[in-house]
Amino acid sequence: MNITESISLCRPDDWHLHVRDGSTLATVIAHTARQFARAIIMPNLQPPVTDTAAAMAYRQRILDNVPAGLDFTPLMTLYLTDNTPGDEILRARDSGMIHAVKLYPSGATTHSDAGVTNIEKTYDTLAVMAECGMPLLVHGEVTDPDVDVFDREQVFIEQQLMPMLSAIPNLRVVLEHITTQDAVNFILDAPERVAATITAHHLLLNRNAMFAGGIRPHHYCLPVLKREQHRRALIEAIRSGHPRFFLGTDSAPHARRAKESGCGCAGIYTAHAALELYVEAFEQAGALDKFEAFASFNGPDFYGLPRNTDKITINRKQWQVASEFPMGNEDTIIPFRAGESLQWKL
Ligand code: DOR
Ligand code: ZN
Repeated sequence: MNITESISLCRPDDWHLHVRDGSTLATVIAHTARQFARAIIMPNLQPPVTDTAAAMAYRQRILDNVPAGLDFTPLMTLYLTDNTPGDEILRARDSGMIHAVKLYPSGATTHSDAGVTNIEKTYDTLAVMAECGMPLLVHGEVTDPDVDVFDREQVFIEQQLMPMLSAIPNLRVVLEHITTQDAVNFILDAPERVAATITAHHLLLNRNAMFAGGIRPHHYCLPVLKREQHRRALIEAIRSGHPRFFLGTDSAPHARRAKESGCGCAGIYTAHAALELYVEAFEQAGALDKFEAFASFNGPDFYGLPRNTDKITINRKQWQVASEFPMGNEDTIIPFRAGESLQWKL
């Protein structure tokens, strides 16, 4: 069998990304803009990006930090609250720069306190979104402390997502960063208006990675890593080449001190080597021939945006990941696979 030495593909986009703000933004946006033409920018800043004016100002701060010579377009989102007015959705749509609205169940994850306390409270707003074709991006986990943390995605799908999809018939929905066999099956059975993103880390790791030889805070993210059976279901999803699965890194930088802590933050930083990590996962899955559609076609097709036209090449070449990246003057970001070798290079 021939071993692939190089793959060329249409330039990809990242359909789920955290770039933060301030000094962190400068470091991380350079990593993303080197690889991707566009990225869906998560709105969970503090305070959250809840209106069009805030999203437009954030968009400008992002553009101001894109290194000269790189062509990168941030696709902005709004943060849904219990009280997002329908008018705000129309303003967002009219801006032409805001491409989705993000639902964080309140308390589900980093900076979600201002999120939705009861999904039914948002139904009127969701109906406006359905009407104007604005997709809803969903952090799909229940927050009930009595539900086991490993079951929260599956319970969310059954108890909240399915009823919401029936209540708002034309709403386009992306279930973000799916982690379970249940979520894969849900997408396969769902109508065409429902899609999902898959991260590189959920393709590469199962939950053992959080406890390999001791507790590993840099492998802690939400939704939390699941058991191997679920990782395999994600691998089957990418192998299938199904058009409603696409690339979303959920790269989520946190200061080293905030991760290596008695109560560490959730988030894995993968933007420094996102494409290389995905290619590794696709190669392991024997699915390199499915990578271009996953990374470069399925996302824009779902969002109704044009596909990119330029090409990139990723070569089989060993290189070493940095052990850390600067985060302001005081702290650092520890990237996924810090100090280790990768086998593919953009
Ligand atoms: O691991 C995560 N980190 N999951 C999320 O949902 C949020 C993200 C973040 O913002 O740090
Ligand atoms: Zn995220």
